[in-house]
Amino acid sequence: MRVTINWHPNPQLHQPLYQQLVNYCLQEIETGNWALGDQLPPQRELAAQLQVNRSTIGQAMTQLVDYGVISGKRGGGTTIISNTWSLMMKKAPVNWQEYIQSGHFKANLHTIQTINTHETRMPIRLSTGELAPAFLPHQLFADALTRVGHRLQQLNYLEPQGLLALREQLAQRLQRWGIQASADTILITSGSLQALQLISLSLLDEHATVYTETPTYLNSLQIFQSAGVHLRGLPLTRDGVAYWQLPQTEQQKLLYVIPSFQNPTGQVMTLKHRRELLTFANRRQLPIIEDSAYQDLWFDTRPPQPLKALDDHGAVIYLGSSSKILAPGLRLGWVVAPRPIISRLADVKMQTDYGASSLSQLALAEILANSDFDRYLVQTRTRLQQRAQAALQSLQTYLAPYAKWQEPTGGFYIWLKLDPRIKIDALFDAARAQGVLINPGDLYAFHHVQAIRLSYAYAEPAAFAAGCRILKQLIEIQLTH
Ligand SMILES: Cc1ncc(COP(=O)(O)O)c(C=O)c1O
Repeated sequence: MRVTINWHPNPQLHQPLYQQLVNYCLQEIETGNWALGDQLPPQRELAAQLQVNRSTIGQAMTQLVDYGVISGKRGGGTTIISNTWSLMMKKAPVNWQEYIQSGHFKANLHTIQTINTHETRMPIRLSTGELAPAFLPHQLFADALTRVGHRLQQLNYLEPQGLLALREQLAQRLQRWGIQASADTILITSGSLQALQLISLSLLDEHATVYTETPTYLNSLQIFQSAGVHLRGLPLTRDGVAYWQLPQTEQQKLLYVIPSFQNPTGQVMTLKHRRELLTFANRRQLPIIEDSAYQDLWFDTRPPQPLKALDDHGAVIYLGSSSKILAPGLRLGWVVAPRPIISRLADVKMQTDYGASSLSQLALAEILANSDFDRYLVQTRTRLQQRAQAALQSLQTYLAPYAKWQEPTGGFYIWLKLDPRIKIDALFDAARAQGVLINPGDLYAFHHVQAIRLSYAYAEPAAFAAGCRILKQLIEIQLTH
């Protein structure tokens, strides 16, 4: 459509006529009066209508072309091709890229960004480290929220360590694991991820090194690296982390372990290894972060006592979470540690977010106080075990010639060691194109590992089987080309 112009430049103004015309055109486009695809009158006609020289019109059109707002075609009519702000700015726009690259926090690993972007839309999610939505105890939540509904006056900021009733519930439950915690040695966090971040921000100097098992969940995050702290891996043996390989340096250090149903391998540290690790840690004055996210999710045998229960030197910072046993959307985790550590973390937490959601905390306190929660946990273990059995069956059917794995004894994951000829990055891309999401092992390691992590917790068994079938086809295509 041809635009309508009911405007004239003002020769009395100091601003050159061509500039007045440029500003007028930009304003009409910006306000939406002129739309993309609309045509400006030919230059001769415009010069006559506005009673200015052709050269004035030519100058204005050149500038609009430079801004990328109109097409630069000579001869034919001039068309509006852009109405985006940045292109219309007469001065250079704010260089956000420069700011984005300046923040201390590192960007997520590219593969994790891809997974995060696509995960919720993928039909077959073998990557998702969450319980299936069907496992959620709807009635428990509904009852808890009804009771919380009668106490909404408690929706204020809470005390720095979190809702007392919740900490008391947790202290009681921790006793079942042999952990002697009181409400004042517990801090409620917004998920255990926040606990890790608080530790990195509040307890470590910039020369510190955090040692982990290899592979480890921690390497898929940039929390410690973003705080300037180094992350180094120690081998993971069948019994547990090879702590004896920890170098003897002056620098501050800390060891992060997931002793029960480790992410990503599903491994469990033996009791003997736990004891030996603690003896070593005490000799070296080495603090340990024990991440217990999957501890409650055993199949046949309860895992050995947590390090925290065996720790009589106060060397262990214990992390718990509601994400894997209930719902990650609650965003609740907890830290158990010596009082001064809890106070320090709580102080930094208050400066960061003034506490985790009080609504979530009230709901979780209600749920934990309900004996149905224990029945739910038993049921969840059984369901997970059934899923794991079905997953093993599918792996056997489709992937046995190309992979090796250990049978999980709890948790969510199977660590699939793949045939060395398989190109895992290409497999990840090809699987994604077919609607199947997997986690390449490199996300968890400090060097290339020829493995992928599969989760049987989220996908329905039929979807898991379909995913394995697709992976098999893709692997066979790779190996025959
Ligand atoms: C070992 C481990 N720790 C912590 C988390 C994150 O937990 P949260 O949701 O409590 O932040 C995960 C999630 O995958 C995990 O696997």
